[in-house]
Amino acid sequence: MSAALIDGKRQAESLRQRVSERVAELARQGVTPGLAVVLVGENPASQVYVRNKARQTVEAGMRSFDHTLPATASQAELLALVARLNADPDVDGILVQLPLPPQIDAQKVIEAIDPAKDVDGFHPVNAGRLATGAPGLVPCTPLGCLMLIRSVRRDLAGLEAVVVGRSNIVGKPMAQLLIGESCTVTIAHSKTRDLPAVCRRADILVAAVGRPEMIRGDWIKPGAIVIDVGINRVPAAPEGKTRLVGDVAYEEAREAASAVTPVPGGVGPMTIACLLANTVTAACRRRGLSDPFKDGP
Ligand code: GUN
Repeated sequence: MSAALIDGKRQAESLRQRVSERVAELARQGVTPGLAVVLVGENPASQVYVRNKARQTVEAGMRSFDHTLPATASQAELLALVARLNADPDVDGILVQLPLPPQIDAQKVIEAIDPAKDVDGFHPVNAGRLATGAPGLVPCTPLGCLMLIRSVRRDLAGLEAVVVGRSNIVGKPMAQLLIGESCTVTIAHSKTRDLPAVCRRADILVAAVGRPEMIRGDWIKPGAIVIDVGINRVPAAPEGKTRLVGDVAYEEAREAASAVTPVPGGVGPMTIACLLANTVTAACRRRGLSDPFKDGP
């Protein structure tokens, strides 16, 4: 079998289109959602991310507020900025770009963000809401993964899902979303015994481990849906060049799976599109307006 390719670029474009339509409706009611992005330091990958977020926010018709602090900024300075953004009525969403420099406790910063503006969905209140099935803000990457899964299969009830990786940002919320879809969910991680055998059970396999091409073709159940969250830069010929690969050996996976996301062009583009959707959701809820994406983005 040669698996269908799940086109994250196209799905993200379609979501951004829906976001722009909602933003235009809000504009007619005099509302312009605003997203504040905070970057501390000069990590080049983070700078690229933040620029892309700002551009796409404006393209969708929303306001983008960019705040850059020096790499030497103190925790107190960052917390003071977060407090200002929490209090600013023009700011509907706050995103503090991770990773943060070592002198700053990222968890303390995440917990300082108003949960109603926490468009990353990282605040413990939003994690708790997701775990208990209450409406909250859901982390963007797993939300994007779920949309990609649902683009190839609507009803996931009863399917075996295996999530490889247990981070607060991807693995755990991904598992919660799949439980919400009535899947039977296993979270695997670095201490899991016989990981290949666990993966082979999966009708839906989500890989979020950050290890290049770790998941091989013979770990994949024939017909499975495979979602690759990994973005790993590896050396490539000619000497000195690099290329991006996922956590899944893509060519091997295509032989076994029914559908698989490529890297790049799979999960990556969905993340910012979901961030834009979360910003519109936060803007509506803060004003007592009905949810703009009733059945999820
Ligand atoms: N760094 C890399 N991805 C993300 C993300 O989705 N949110 C935040 N806050 N930082 C990141």
